[in-house]
Amino acid sequence: MACSIAPGKVILLGEHFVVKGMPAIGAAVTLYARVCVSSGQGRVESRQLGLLLDLSSNTVNDKGLYRVVEELAGRFGLKRDFHATIDSEIPISSGMGSSAAVAVSTTHALLSFAGVEPDKKAVWEVSFEAEKVYHVRPSGVDNTLSTYGGVMVYERGVFNRVKRRWPDDVVIVIADSGIKRSTGSVVADVLNRYDKYSNVMSRIYDAASELVRDALKSIETGDFARLGELMDINHGLLSSIGVSSRVLESIVWAMREAGALGAKISGAGRGGIVIGLVETSKVPSVVEKIKLLGLTPLVVQIDDEGVRRAPDSRTSQG
Ligand code: PMV
Repeated sequence: MACSIAPGKVILLGEHFVVKGMPAIGAAVTLYARVCVSSGQGRVESRQLGLLLDLSSNTVNDKGLYRVVEELAGRFGLKRDFHATIDSEIPISSGMGSSAAVAVSTTHALLSFAGVEPDKKAVWEVSFEAEKVYHVRPSGVDNTLSTYGGVMVYERGVFNRVKRRWPDDVVIVIADSGIKRSTGSVVADVLNRYDKYSNVMSRIYDAASELVRDALKSIETGDFARLGELMDINHGLLSSIGVSSRVLESIVWAMREAGALGAKISGAGRGGIVIGLVETSKVPSVVEKIKLLGLTPLVVQIDDEGVRRAPDSRTSQG
């Protein structure tokens, strides 16, 4: 049996503004999609979503994973003699890159099962093909972070890894609002607002760009108090472009009141997740506040490694 895990991600700063060429910072986090492959007849199933592929009966419930299998057959001669089981702890449709993490871990595990050393470049390329099936114009941030791990700045399709190691005493607390939204339609609304108020909006976008560059320096110098404040400012800018909501604001403010260094929407907004930058000493109070809102907090660290082989036994929830 070959098992692999691949991390999900959060966008720390710069979402939406990145669509118009501004920089953004994303991070792989310690929530994983795990895939185990053993001998079988061309089946892929998910513990959360049921049967995704059954090649013996031409059942294709997940076109992205079908693309992965086709790519691996074309590039590496993958045979249809596998049975893959996916088990993911990454919230679905919340902006945490769950589809990319599944494509990345499935690619890695299928290659390992086939006896091919899973080179990260190949895993990246194959998983990006799946992302093109799932998303209209994927930026590549999700499968890049899931493949390589770490914190990355991305700007106009170029990714640069932030070299400094994230400290152990600052974590990210995630609260999933549970409100599903389509990234595409939120992005379209924002772009409409941009066109309507372009003189004002272009200045907000310039401010976002400055903010991300400043935040990058804060990470590199280990100034997490400043990073938290910049995340708060970033949230204000996201609010001004129209992607916040009453529910998201209440989560952001709960985190701040409980002592987070900063809190903001992460991803497309309107729903999805809120992230807080939290010192470990403040985690219990932030977690408690989120629970009072009826939500389930997830406390994560940065995953520095990206996709990798995993032991056969099930990993515990992060
Ligand atoms: O919520 P997500 O992970 O789908 O993030 C969307 C990020 C946007 O900047 C809003 C869109 C994009 O393509 O970059």
